[in-house]
Amino acid sequence: MARNKEKLLSIGKDLEDAYGIRTWACPCDLSVKDAALELYVFTEERGLSVDVLINNAGFGDAGPFMDRPWQKQYEMVQVNIAALMQLTHLYLKPMTERGYGKVLNLSSVAAFSAGPDMSVYYASKAFVMSFSEALAEEVKGTGVTVTALCPGPTATGFEKAADMGMGSRMFRRAASPSKVAEDGIRAMEKGRVLVYEGAFTKLASVGSRIAPRFLTRRLARSMNR
Ligand SMILES: NC(=O)c1ccc[n+]([C@@H]2O[C@H](COP(=O)([O-])OP(=O)(O)OC[C@H]3O[C@@H](n4cnc5c(N)ncnc54)[C@H](OP(=O)(O)O)[C@@H]3O)[C@@H](O)[C@H]2O)c1
Repeated sequence: MARNKEKLLSIGKDLEDAYGIRTWACPCDLSVKDAALELYVFTEERGLSVDVLINNAGFGDAGPFMDRPWQKQYEMVQVNIAALMQLTHLYLKPMTERGYGKVLNLSSVAAFSAGPDMSVYYASKAFVMSFSEALAEEVKGTGVTVTALCPGPTATGFEKAADMGMGSRMFRRAASPSKVAEDGIRAMEKGRVLVYEGAFTKLASVGSRIAPRFLTRRLARSMNR
């Protein structure tokens, strides 16, 4: 799911050439209310049975909440939370009725603590982690699994989209996107519930359970600068 039609078509063509499969592209802006429904109608009209749903679309925004544009915060909640929830709501039940399905939701290391100077993003990823964990339990025994993938900083277009200013401390040792994607898919196939991707995230997950929250939020703030 993405807005850029040309990019989707070009990735689709690469996949068709490489694997001899058929692909469909449905560009949509998930920050618009009910855009997820458009995608559902698109797949229903073509008789496409969705067995794997990967909720990857998402973005952040860096800076103190009160100084950042309201529209971007609102759209972040729409994309990172509302659209992910709506797509899951639309596709999960048919999956359980068929007795098979995989949902992979992109959370983040940001889910583990409050994130001053990136407050809405951290809160949105905490939502994704909690929501996915709860659903994983709800669908147990139905043949469907729900996985939350929590990567650390990864070298994608994220920094730019979040206005972080390239070369922020957080991204100095960013992971490779293909490694994160491969590990995420493997974990989804195994039906794992929570995946802490990379050494930094594993350390942060332990640290955030031991350290007091005043410390983790201060650390997050210094990392976000
Ligand atoms: N990079 C990291 O360090 C990191 C770490 C942890 C978690 N994550 C999570 O990983 C996921 C992927 O992000 P990324 O790192 O690959 O960043 P990215 O390179 O900026 O990719 C973001 C993706 O989301 C799509 N998207 C953004 N706004 C959208 C909208 N309004 N409607 C539909 N699609 C939209 C983008 O496509 P279009 O621009 O074409 O719409 C793009 O495919 C996100 O959920 C992010 O929070 C990233």
